[in-house]
Amino acid sequence: MSERKITETEILNRVYNATDHEALMSAYRDWADQYDSDLLDRFGYVAHVATAKALHEALGGSTDARILDAGCGTGLVGEELVKLGYRHIDALDYSADMLAQAARKGIYGERMQADMKHRLPVDDDAYDAVVCTGTFTYGHVTGDAFDELVRIVRPGGVIVFTIREGAYEEYGYRRRMLDLETAGAWELVSFYDTPYQLEEGNTCKMCSYRVPYRA
Ligand SMILES: C[S@@+](CC[C@H](N)C(=O)[O-])C[C@H]1O[C@@H](n2cnc3c(N)ncnc32)[C@H](O)[C@@H]1O
Repeated sequence: MSERKITETEILNRVYNATDHEALMSAYRDWADQYDSDLLDRFGYVAHVATAKALHEALGGSTDARILDAGCGTGLVGEELVKLGYRHIDALDYSADMLAQAARKGIYGERMQADMKHRLPVDDDAYDAVVCTGTFTYGHVTGDAFDELVRIVRPGGVIVFTIREGAYEEYGYRRRMLDLETAGAWELVSFYDTPYQLEEGNTCKMCSYRVPYRA
């Protein structure tokens, strides 16, 4: 591990108060090699474990599922999925530095550097499931990105993601989730509050949806 460039508090401020995409990516560039130890040892991050469990339940334990870990970061969710027996996991993130950390773990198949605010470089119906933890939050990706997740998951497949407490209403996620449900684009499987970082005492919404079969 290289020498620390910035404190945990400073990096969190930069990540959650980034005013534009470049500022956010610059923050992740400076954080990438310390991200896992900060999250796990300092902040008591548990959302990656909870998301893997929620996905496992939504998939009914089908460990041959083809999964995309969107906003994969350093691969903490992927590692949990591997522990549960999943073997076909691709990774997508906009930060080359976070993707490089994920690559070192040797758990992902394809690794894509892509922006979730735009059309993804993925075919329609390509995945049985998409998982996305910690990326629907302050200063990151808005609910407009849900449409692309629906497009790339096959009918009958599932989408499981977290939304940080507070951001859920404030950033319009709730409205977009309900609109997609009303439009029949996805069906709610489960929705509950769960701890995000134990040491920080914060929570997230754990959201699971199924893409319906077409008539
Ligand atoms: C808080 S980290 C979560 C990483 C991982 N899922 C986890 O649970 O540890 C958020 C990730 O979202 C990525 N991200 C932020 N904005 C993005 C965007 N527009 N497109 C793709 N990835 C993005 C960041 O690079 C970062 O790796």
